[in-house]
Amino acid sequence: MERLDGSRGAGSHDRRMPAASAESFQHGWANTDMKLPPVSGAAYAAVRRAAVSERFPGERIVIPSGGLKVRSNDFDYTFRPHSAFIHLTAEQGTQAVPDSVLVLEPDGTGHSVTLFTRPRSPRDGGPNGAEFHSDRRHGEFWVGRRRTLSETSDALGVQVAARDSLERALAGNVPTRVVRGEDPLVDALVAPAHQADAELLTFLSELRLIKDEWEIEQMRAAVGHTVAGFHDVVGELPHATSLARGERWIEGTFNRRARLDGYGLGFETIAAAGAHACVLHWMRNDGPVRDGDLLLLDAGVEADSFYTGDVTRTLPVGGRFTDVQRRVYDLVFAAQSAGIAALRPGARFGDFHDAAMRTVAEGLDGWGLRPGGDAATTPGSGLYRRYTVCGSGHMLGLDCHDCAGARSENYIDGVLTPGQVLTVEPGLYFQPDDLTVPEELRGIGVRIEDDFLITADGPVCLSSGLPRAADDVEAWMASL
Ligand code: GLY
Ligand code: MN
Repeated sequence: MERLDGSRGAGSHDRRMPAASAESFQHGWANTDMKLPPVSGAAYAAVRRAAVSERFPGERIVIPSGGLKVRSNDFDYTFRPHSAFIHLTAEQGTQAVPDSVLVLEPDGTGHSVTLFTRPRSPRDGGPNGAEFHSDRRHGEFWVGRRRTLSETSDALGVQVAARDSLERALAGNVPTRVVRGEDPLVDALVAPAHQADAELLTFLSELRLIKDEWEIEQMRAAVGHTVAGFHDVVGELPHATSLARGERWIEGTFNRRARLDGYGLGFETIAAAGAHACVLHWMRNDGPVRDGDLLLLDAGVEADSFYTGDVTRTLPVGGRFTDVQRRVYDLVFAAQSAGIAALRPGARFGDFHDAAMRTVAEGLDGWGLRPGGDAATTPGSGLYRRYTVCGSGHMLGLDCHDCAGARSENYIDGVLTPGQVLTVEPGLYFQPDDLTVPEELRGIGVRIEDDFLITADGPVCLSSGLPRAADDVEAWMASL
């Protein structure tokens, strides 16, 4: 069914197409080509490409979008291009075309840029002329209209060529760096240069550390949609408590918002009620949501531009925290507040984590909780980490854990700089079987996560549309 070129023909359940029908498909179509305006981020993507060009003079740079990934048999997951490809093209949502490849070709003074992609399904009876009705993976009748090559060129502001011509374009003895593992054809055509390819990936990751004004606009939109999803969820809490798998109702409610307002999710929604909140990435979401328990919702809408929010709230399902839940919540709130206070341009990236963890360690110490003895509260000892195993935040952008390939000296050992967007998300997680904590704490998990833009004047909270303090959370829930 699936062919070597990645197309997908008839399924075993399809009837054979009579030759006369196939022939009739070739006639009677109006010309529906369009003249498209440039996408809003195109000019910003050009600036980023210029930075790549400047960093790698005389070298060919190849950045594939990646292709469709089979879910099972003849169905694929929703397509999502590689983040480096998005960053350098500003390609948007459902317009993105699988198996596209951006090539920067050295041209003496700099680079000429060509995007190799699939054209709109032709209907001319040529070699690919049956695709539009017979290829269930890429054909227009099956998956919808793609832009023509000239429409793509108008929209993205780059020269565009058919993917069929990629092999010719990658020939010749030109030093070449590739984002590898995304496109089997590219990997086969270009001999691996491990060190050079790794340097390219690092550069592309670090290029995303500082967001430009267009990206910041996208981040505001993504976080705004995310906030809307949290509002939706609070409205559905009463219904969720009536269901055997209420966590799934919460997940579905948030995910509906993600598809409505954005392209989808930045990561699988974490809807963790009761003791599930102690599992950091609880994505099974198959448990009940009980009145009296906490619900930890960690979720993010990915906008049509593919930038994502990443927000966590821990909510009392019935609308009011119990005393012990509030005690844990207030300590996490204090830790997050200490972290936020440490977000200054010029501060070390690690400062906000250290500040949050110092607050956690001192708070636990005040409760008499010292899992490693007296050393537990020594900053840096990390012994209190039994109750808070993960880091307190990360860069955010096209990926939830953005800039993952950046060198540590420019990221976790670097300094905060205007234009960076990051999360602050300390948590406390008392496992239900942890004998080192009093019984009343067991099974309580709390995380509070917000998204911040670093500016010259300090941090700006992008997710301030959601309450943070316990009283404000209760008042908000009561109002919905
Ligand atoms: N929101 C998931 C994470 O930050 O790991
Ligand atoms: Mn996060």
